[in-house]
Amino acid sequence: MSKTYLERLGITPWCYKNKIETITAKPSVEQSLQSLRETVATCTACALHETRTQTVFGVGNEQAKLMIIGEAPGFYEDQRGEPFVGRAGQLLTAMLNAIHLTREEVYIANILKCRPPNNRDPQVNEVSTCTPYLHQQITWIKPKLLLAVGRIAAHHLLQTKLSLERLRNTVHAYVPTGTPLFVTYHPAYLLRSPVDKNKAYSDLRFIQTLL
Ligand code: URA
Repeated sequence: MSKTYLERLGITPWCYKNKIETITAKPSVEQSLQSLRETVATCTACALHETRTQTVFGVGNEQAKLMIIGEAPGFYEDQRGEPFVGRAGQLLTAMLNAIHLTREEVYIANILKCRPPNNRDPQVNEVSTCTPYLHQQITWIKPKLLLAVGRIAAHHLLQTKLSLERLRNTVHAYVPTGTPLFVTYHPAYLLRSPVDKNKAYSDLRFIQTLL
């Protein structure tokens, strides 16, 4: 009831003299991701923390429509703290540019936040301790489409062992959030097998139609 209405009725409204307003605002996506980034930076949940230079959380537009997920940081990513900055990263940037996207418009992350020694494949325990972080990123960023680059990212996100060739050309779903998920070649593979770049380009053109 309004204060003036109560006063007209001859009722003196009262309240605590030094009432402190407590506003509990929900943290924004940016704040949530920043706090998760800080948690990840000090993570010691698996042995990879012993050999990393730093964690590699993710980079890009936190409201991106397209989220690209690779395997794990390599040497340069571990040095810079940013995913896909080595030779494979430069090719990934060129692939994005080919469909008129920039690195700044998408969000890029990996299955693992720390570099495995000598770039070996991620181990099962490393993936299971690290993927809750990625899952949080997907949940908060809410991309329209996930793009898994390479067999390892695709296998972990889709919980399958099918070959990359079998996984390409189909719109799958990342089951925990129902986000559509597409699979293409890892840019490091394309550097070794440039003959498949045409197929990667047709994957990207298809992605363009989905966005
Ligand atoms: N390969 C990946 O899968 N991720 C990176 O960040 C770099 C290379």
